[in-house]
Amino acid sequence: MRPIQIAIDGPAGAGKSTVAKRLAKELGYCYIDTGAMYRALTFKALKKKYDINNEDTLRDLIKKTHIEIKNVCKENQIFVDSKNVTYEIRKPEVSNNVSLVAKSKHVREYMLKLQREMAQSGGVVMDGRDIGTVVLPEAEVKFFLTASLQARAHRRYLELDKKGFNVDLDTIAQEISLRDEIDQQREYAPLIQAIDAILVDTSNQTIDEVVESLKQEVERKI
Ligand code: C5P
Repeated sequence: MRPIQIAIDGPAGAGKSTVAKRLAKELGYCYIDTGAMYRALTFKALKKKYDINNEDTLRDLIKKTHIEIKNVCKENQIFVDSKNVTYEIRKPEVSNNVSLVAKSKHVREYMLKLQREMAQSGGVVMDGRDIGTVVLPEAEVKFFLTASLQARAHRRYLELDKKGFNVDLDTIAQEISLRDEIDQQREYAPLIQAIDAILVDTSNQTIDEVVESLKQEVERKI
């Protein structure tokens, strides 16, 4: 099998990262979690008390920041300025502010460059919001994963609960719905299904079923 680029996009909680990770493992590919990169920058911005609604401030922040994903071919570890923030970036405070940082033009340009470099050699499954449309428009296979808000909120609840965060289902549903709205309505690289992406509704499917159907699509295309 020739190593290709696989793009997986979709709203929060659709199962993208779990599925992408599993698919990459089964294909012997690397997995790149682009959401973690936006989260890492947001984590630093909040910690250093940057005004995340100000483009100039964000531009200044980018200049002073080094973001890196290590261990891409196993379990992504995300570093900001050499500090491992893999756990911290999942905190609700980061989740609730990341979309505001991600709508910045400067932030997106910075991430685009890094993400393209990481994917250039192929053999990657990259997940995010604009992978099939902007980051890797030439990706050989593109998926757009979605699910009902109820299913997505429930999954996110279980995920955060397992990580030890104290969370409430209704609050999570409201938060992810707001985050999707900001991601869909932003000016640069909004969350949208690429015209050549395969739509997969994961609401009533198990992870195994979704991974299997994606794998079959990939095998059909290569
Ligand atoms: O995938 P995850 O939920 O961790 O992404 C967090 C946020 O990062 C998204 O809600 C979105 O605002 C931003 N993001 C983005 N483009 C990507 C990946 C994530 O704007 N490719």
